[in-house]
Amino acid sequence: MVHNGQVHNGQAHADEDSELSLRPQFLREYIGQTELKEELAIYIQAAENREEALDHVLLYGPPGLGKTTLANIIANEMGVKIQTTSGPAIEKTGDLLVLLNELGPGDVLFIDEIHRLPRVVEEMLYSAMEDYQVDIIIGQDEGAHPVHFPLPPFTLIGATTRPGSLSAPLRHRFGIVQHLRYYNVDELATIVKRTARLFDVPIEDQAAIEIGMRSRGTPRIANRLLKRVRDFAQVYHENGLIDNAITDQALRILKVDDAGLDETDRKILDVIIRYYGGGPVGLSTIAANISEETTTIEDMYEPYLIQNGFLQRTPRGRMATPKAYDHLGIAYTEEI
Ligand SMILES: Nc1ncnc2c1ncn2[C@@H]1O[C@H](COP(=O)(O)OP(=O)(O)O)[C@@H](O)[C@H]1O
Ligand SMILES: [Mg+2]
Repeated sequence: MVHNGQVHNGQAHADEDSELSLRPQFLREYIGQTELKEELAIYIQAAENREEALDHVLLYGPPGLGKTTLANIIANEMGVKIQTTSGPAIEKTGDLLVLLNELGPGDVLFIDEIHRLPRVVEEMLYSAMEDYQVDIIIGQDEGAHPVHFPLPPFTLIGATTRPGSLSAPLRHRFGIVQHLRYYNVDELATIVKRTARLFDVPIEDQAAIEIGMRSRGTPRIANRLLKRVRDFAQVYHENGLIDNAITDQALRILKVDDAGLDETDRKILDVIIRYYGGGPVGLSTIAANISEETTTIEDMYEPYLIQNGFLQRTPRGRMATPKAYDHLGIAYTEEI
């Protein structure tokens, strides 16, 4: 697949195509993550001045915060090609070889969900990253012999929602490790206004802020909510204007509350409080109760609930906080 001159390999996420057109192309268009951008700009410029490949980059953080976008921006800023794949898409060392073989000097190999690389593939990456070469065994039995396979200097960019699942040897081979953080409301409102401009729909400042407030700190959610609110505005307003009233109405129908929690967030808290007395309760028990995957809860829901003080992780399981009781309108009683 080729989009915008970028080569995509392996399975793309279902919503990736529609997100492509919304992705900022350069660092200066990338909103928020200020410190990370400043640092990256320096590393990029230094590598360019030395005419070297940028050091390998690991980007980690919850889904939808802009890891894939940033990987593409880095390649763009360096003026190099990017090959995109994901951990589960590389099943054999041969798959990796094909990708490595495509790389020109300075090019970027982007591996999304890098924590899901098969072991043998990961081991082949070690020498590729460290020495820009791989050793492969050709032939069988007595005829088997190692062959040196040199690679051009390249940049591996890995993205992961769970850095803790990365093996230490792999983690240590990344010279640049960056944590993407949740966005504040102002930043999200700016992203919403930018996307509205790309959609060519008018939006009031206050409506953009409202959407920002309910987006769980996440640009992907902000853009998704904007799309839905846009639908309401289009049907109810002749000029399609996204104002405060239509935003409120749409968000109420979408069941996103004023803390930005969606139905699943509230179900998680509700199960812990109503069925398990506020916890502690195990993750798999919660998952079974609300028919979600444990990984979905752990990667997508928990980080935001924990960061915003609705949920606590304890050695014995998850616990709802007094703030969670309050939010759901349930009286909090200390454990006796
Ligand atoms: N800093 C940002 N500024 C503007 N838009 C952003 C930013 N970060 C992410 N987005 C938008 O949010 C969506 C999700 O970003 P993506 O890079 O796919 O996240 P991730 O790879 O971390 O899951 C994309 O549509 C992207 O355009
Ligand atoms: Mg991504």
